Amino acid sequence: EKAGYRHFMQKEINEQPRALIDTIRGKYSLESGDVFFDLSKDLKESLKDITRIVIVACGTSWHAGLVGKFYIEKFARIPVEVDIASEYRYRDLIADEKLLFIAISQSGETADTLSAMRMVKKMGAKVISICNVVGSSIARESHSVIYTHAGPEIGVASTKAFTTQVASLFLFAMYLGRQRETMSAGESREFLKELVGIPDKLEHVLRLDGEIEDLAKKYKDASDFLYLGRNVNYPIALEGALKLKEISYIHAEGYPAGEMKHGPIALIDSELPVFVIAVKGSVYDKTASNVEEVKARDGIVIAIVTEGDTELAGKADHIIEVPDVPEELSVFLTVTATQIFAYHCANLLGLDVDQPRNLAKSVTVE
Ligand code: F6R
Repeated sequence: EKAGYRHFMQKEINEQPRALIDTIRGKYSLESGDVFFDLSKDLKESLKDITRIVIVACGTSWHAGLVGKFYIEKFARIPVEVDIASEYRYRDLIADEKLLFIAISQSGETADTLSAMRMVKKMGAKVISICNVVGSSIARESHSVIYTHAGPEIGVASTKAFTTQVASLFLFAMYLGRQRETMSAGESREFLKELVGIPDKLEHVLRLDGEIEDLAKKYKDASDFLYLGRNVNYPIALEGALKLKEISYIHAEGYPAGEMKHGPIALIDSELPVFVIAVKGSVYDKTASNVEEVKARDGIVIAIVTEGDTELAGKADHIIEVPDVPEELSVFLTVTATQIFAYHCANLLGLDVDQPRNLAKSVTVE
């Protein structure tokens, strides 16, 4: 059942190229640049009148939502708020028929996400869910559901559900962008071409397994880790830290790299490994200077960089090189590197990778 892998998590990390292909299949045309979703005619029409979007989820699914905000705001120019379900639902909600609410949930049964969705639905909002489990409560109660087609995810730590949620959000953002004509057909064709190339490039990251395992051997006994990223890779810093915490029980914090000087920089010393996600793109120079700040304080830098980056190779203690793709799509590659690292730390520490203590796959209590 684990198809030759030691753990379900390892199998699921390695299934990501296939899961992505299944998730995007049939949803785009490379010729026209169009994106297709199977939504009701009414919903399609009402999407034209939406003035804002709220994405609500928990844990790893919330991190996917944070990535989705970048895509939707960039491609469709609609303001997006992303919130944690257990926070959102206890506030004085502002929702009406001009609000599109997107619930993201692998299991489709997370109690807080389901409650938040029921509340805004009653207030008239349009509700779409992104779910992996077919026929789950959240899928059934939303006006329309986008299934992720990751296949069953058994490891408690979410991996392929995350990347397929991000791919779904990417395509949905393009769909809205095309509908509103904030994204041209030409631009859309370019991004689709790059998206279709991601599964292959992900295979390349999976082949870095041995190299990343060596890093895990070196640092698995550290008591704390810091993960830094900016822009679309800021949520990946949060996700990398969460993966490490939940399966290896090593304390880790994810931070937007620019916030480092506002506090966490005080933590840096020669015992602290810091993952810096510094792939090329709009914030490369800024993030590269964060690498220097960490090094100036004797921190240990593991930089995730774009293949061929000689500048950071000379500055960081270790580099993990991922293929060159547009910044927006780099998240698939950077997150996979952090998943593999967390997996190996937990495995080398002899922990129960698939069933970490105190955690449940589906959180149906509030
Ligand atoms: C982390 C993890 C959890 C879930 C969260 C939401 O690896 O698995 O943080 O992401 O409990 O679950 P779903 O997506 O089922 O609503």
